Amino acid sequence: MKRFILVVFGVFLVIFASYFFNSVAYAKGKLNKKMIAKEKIQAALKIGKSEFYSAKLGTNGFSCAKCHVDSIGTYIPKVGKVVRSLAGVAATFPRFNPKSHQVITLGERLNMCIVHALKGKPLSGQKLNELTLYVTYLSNGYRIKGYNTTPSPVFTKADRNPKTVQQALTLGKHYYDTPLGASSLSCDSCHPGGGAGVLGGKPTKPVIGHAVYYPTYKKWGKIITMQDQFNHCIYTGEEGFKKKIGSKVWKYLDLYVYSLSKGYKISVGK
Ligand code: HEC
Ligand code: HEC
Repeated sequence: MKRFILVVFGVFLVIFASYFFNSVAYAKGKLNKKMIAKEKIQAALKIGKSEFYSAKLGTNGFSCAKCHVDSIGTYIPKVGKVVRSLAGVAATFPRFNPKSHQVITLGERLNMCIVHALKGKPLSGQKLNELTLYVTYLSNGYRIKGYNTTPSPVFTKADRNPKTVQQALTLGKHYYDTPLGASSLSCDSCHPGGGAGVLGGKPTKPVIGHAVYYPTYKKWGKIITMQDQFNHCIYTGEEGFKKKIGSKVWKYLDLYVYSLSKGYKISVGK
């Protein structure tokens, strides 16, 4: 009997020890992952900042910082007016332009300055994401502005070519609710109503409030924007096909997803 108790105790000890060391290793791995992500995003922020101050993005000797220098803005004789500081600007993107009837993302807006104000070539990929990260960082703590309107409950044919903000948001929500890949899953299947859902027994992350972390670092894509996240979700989750960054579906979805985070404070680069 004594021997039996000893054996049971021994087995219990082994199980407990392996559980203990496993969970320590697991926690360590998680911590490491967090530290790596933090280092990567800090490094990207540095690169983005040096791009912002660099005269080499364009051809006329200007840098972003020359016009958008600090919290009060700068007077640029060539432009003939005070150019606004960029603090808080990221909280107002993506925007629906009521004149051109187009969605414009922050990345696209700063490329416009590269082309027109710096006489340079538009950036893309990591370089664009790093500069976008730095410009967004200048808006840390500002609340996402969003719009004072919500999607209409019924999707109509007219919403396919939006002329108003409400129509633009309605189209974005329509894309959110529509299966985009081969597996008949939509964004809404995995993140119902913008909240967290369950996928194969595992919880998925909520979408509401999470736009404030973008651009961010993810192992699979380095510095990513919201549209890169869509591509990841649809490609791995929906057996869909990656869509071009800046494609119509991604842009309206981008506008809608950011509107779901209206009022949340921007918090990037951490
Ligand atoms: C020659 C001056 C000049 C340079 C250089 C310049 N910009 Fe601009 N930028 C402007 C002006 C003018 C506007 C229009 C807003 C305004 O009237 O203040 C603007 C607007 C913007 C906006 C949108 C602001 C808003 O709320 O609509 C962003 C974002 C921006 N610039 C980013 C950049 C970035 C990033 C760079 C460097 C790649 C850059 N700009 C370089 C002059 C400049
Ligand atoms: C098959 C399930 C599935 C589908 C479909 C799906 N997602 Fe996801 N999504 C996930 C999972 C799981 C995560 C968390 C892991 C990750 O970051 O990849 C996630 C992460 C996200 C995040 C980031 C949350 C955070 O804080 O990291 C956003 C935003 C998002 N999804 C939006 C969307 C949108 C918009 C669509 C439609 C284009 C979509 N997802 C489609 C499962 C899905």
